[in-house]
Amino acid sequence: MNLAARDTALQELMDDPACDPVALAETLRRFDLVNRAIGGWGRVWRRGIRPRLRDLGRPARVLDVGSGGGDVVARLAEWAERDGLEVTWLGIDPDPRALEVARTRESATVSFAATDAAGLRDAGETFDLVLSNHVLHHLDAEELAGFADDTRALSSGTVMHADIERGPLAYALYGIGITALERGTFLRTDGLRSIRRSYRAGELEQALGAPWRVASPAPFRLLAVADGDA
Ligand SMILES: C[S@@+](CC[C@H](N)C(=O)[O-])C[C@H]1O[C@@H](n2cnc3c(N)ncnc32)[C@H](O)[C@@H]1O
Repeated sequence: MNLAARDTALQELMDDPACDPVALAETLRRFDLVNRAIGGWGRVWRRGIRPRLRDLGRPARVLDVGSGGGDVVARLAEWAERDGLEVTWLGIDPDPRALEVARTRESATVSFAATDAAGLRDAGETFDLVLSNHVLHHLDAEELAGFADDTRALSSGTVMHADIERGPLAYALYGIGITALERGTFLRTDGLRSIRRSYRAGELEQALGAPWRVASPAPFRLLAVADGDA
């Protein structure tokens, strides 16, 4: 497998509006297990999100853009509660099929809506922190620029977009590791296509441009960070 360059011609099965709805729902539900295994959000919570929310000294409002099945924002909400932080969380996704799965993870502090960052920006919404997980590699160049701009406009604090880092080891290990979880889902095909569509750190920093900075907070992970301008 040649992973020297991004393969942006590949389409993920889940991005096909006509894909099998049962397999899509199961894929969205099982992102929970994949994100726990490879997402690296524990470290980002401890080092990046928790200190920022603590420093606010008041209840915070956080947005997850492209929240899919909703597990990342639900897990962050659990950690916030455990750590004594008062936060309300909103997950948004333009795909109503994702919303159906995410709504099973709603709670007193977590809600979901079928919209995108541009829609919330037009509505004049702002948040203390805006994040996403595994969305950037789905977007073409024009969508990426709009997504980066809209998410900065929605945040009065920081914006953090996490994604996979493309590489042969990530590809090989994912191919082995996903075997136990893939049945009845798109996890193998889409996971491997995701890696082929994903960036390396320098590529993503160049694609996003200033003021974005891209770090690798864990193996095979990228985190693009910028200050919001809300
Ligand atoms: C691979 S899934 C990731 C879902 C979830 N964030 C996770 O980590 O499990 C990508 C999600 O991004 C959403 N998405 C695609 N384009 C988007 C856009 N322009 N704005 C917001 N979400 C988008 C899709 O509907 C899909 O639910």
